[in-house]
Amino acid sequence: MTQHLDLDQALTEAEPTDTGWWRDAVIYQVYPRSFADGNGDGMGDIPGIRERLPYLRDLGVDAVWLSPFYASPQADAGYDVADYRAIDPMFGTLHDADGLIRDAHRLGLRVIVDLVPNHSSDQHEWFKRALREGPGSALRSRYHFLPGKGENGELPPNDWESVFGGPAWTRAEDGEWFLHLFAPEQPDFNWEHAAVRDEFRSILRFWLDMGVDGFRIDVAHGLVKAEGLPDIGDHEQLKLLGNDVLPFFDQDGVHEIYRSWRLILEEYDGERIGVAEAWTPTVDRTANYLRPDELHQAFNFQYLSTGWDAVALREVIDLSLDAMRPVGAPTTWVLSNHDVVRHLTRLGGGVRRARAASLLMLALPGSAYIYQGEELGLPEVTGLPDEVRQDPAFFRAAGQDGFRDGCRVPMPWTAEGTSYGFGAGGSWLPQPAEWELLSVEAQSGDPDSTLELYRSALAVRRAHAGLGAGTAVEWTEAPAGVLAFRRPGGFACTVNTTGEPVTIQAPGRVLLASAPVEVEPEGVIALPADTTVWWAV
Ligand code: NOJ
Repeated sequence: MTQHLDLDQALTEAEPTDTGWWRDAVIYQVYPRSFADGNGDGMGDIPGIRERLPYLRDLGVDAVWLSPFYASPQADAGYDVADYRAIDPMFGTLHDADGLIRDAHRLGLRVIVDLVPNHSSDQHEWFKRALREGPGSALRSRYHFLPGKGENGELPPNDWESVFGGPAWTRAEDGEWFLHLFAPEQPDFNWEHAAVRDEFRSILRFWLDMGVDGFRIDVAHGLVKAEGLPDIGDHEQLKLLGNDVLPFFDQDGVHEIYRSWRLILEEYDGERIGVAEAWTPTVDRTANYLRPDELHQAFNFQYLSTGWDAVALREVIDLSLDAMRPVGAPTTWVLSNHDVVRHLTRLGGGVRRARAASLLMLALPGSAYIYQGEELGLPEVTGLPDEVRQDPAFFRAAGQDGFRDGCRVPMPWTAEGTSYGFGAGGSWLPQPAEWELLSVEAQSGDPDSTLELYRSALAVRRAHAGLGAGTAVEWTEAPAGVLAFRRPGGFACTVNTTGEPVTIQAPGRVLLASAPVEVEPEGVIALPADTTVWWAV
């Protein structure tokens, strides 16, 4: 029996919740260039997303987070913004964005947009003027321009490295250097400058007035740099997790910014939220971003970085829940996004393990993030030819976790047709031929498919109100390599992370399983390898 779903049972066990919508929300990340192409130019766009919103409603998610769609030269796939109040023509118009927000709301979906405050594009009006107006000009002080070291200023001002590899400084023609923690086309703002702070408060209001329900804040840990931009010295510079605090990340000064943003969010009705993309050394430091007067959620990268190992998973789950309790914020869970190798490939156990990992994630209390295509069981696309790649990290030769085009290949919607229904034209990255079988069309209605597993899981999660709520995970005894826990309201979850079947006593009746399971009449079950089961107990 696979994916058996007993909604009646789940409904009777639902417990009331008085928390905000975002505390247990399932949030679906749309990567606009790769979701759906409305105009057939091979690149996804807002009209394409609008057409597919009913798919997201039917999948059962609560909110959509859209990666950047702003005017941008696309040096880093839109994370290089030239105008924060305009849509890139490649994605559509402001009118389209307005329509998208309205359509989503009509369907009961909230909309979170990406805000990129650490850096702009080098084509942003301020930066172009800063370059033009030269050393000492007013516009230069909105970025980090400095003279170089060495006899003729030929050396960068300090030893910081870019996350994409190579020095974090580029020299302008007039001899000054400017800071870019990412690509040279992404100069870092100087957040000590009042004009930068004012501008972003105004940008927040612009999008809140458009009706968005929240912001995912890019590089939320990077805005403030240590005074004097000190050298790091002999240090493992860019380990994003588990590091000491670096002079360009997670500085205490960032929190004042989020406190001022929270006041703006609170001015609006409807519980608008801020979500931090904050790579901090520990989950405890992540919790600092979520104090009651700061942001609402932060991505749990410690969880994403944990391998398929029962002991490590239990540890990171406990650690994450414990870290958030003192600040009263929900824990979040995430397995995939547009920056990392898709979890189906990363966890190393194919679709079977990926499905088990997804059911584990969706059984945990707090908010869960789904990256487009994971509900189809899409693998990372490896072996893309160099000439189609666009990730700037690839060109700078040292990326974060490898190169990121392989998780950005456009979605397959239909089993046949040009680009598997992504659009009427081609697709900006080639889709593997096997994706025909992974398309939404091929999987819809097939009870064994990964898409139907996600639909069922989200339906149970929604009906069983206790599942995402609170912070309680009660671990129960289990053989080595197996995770077993109970959640309030008569729910249990068992995860076999090993490569062998493990015999256990069934704790109740199967609600949903990531692979076929058979319970013997006397309640014994050989839990198959890499399998998660949800139980009504
Ligand atoms: C994090 C984003 O998720 C990533 O895609 C981007 O390259 C960097 N921030 C820089 O904006």
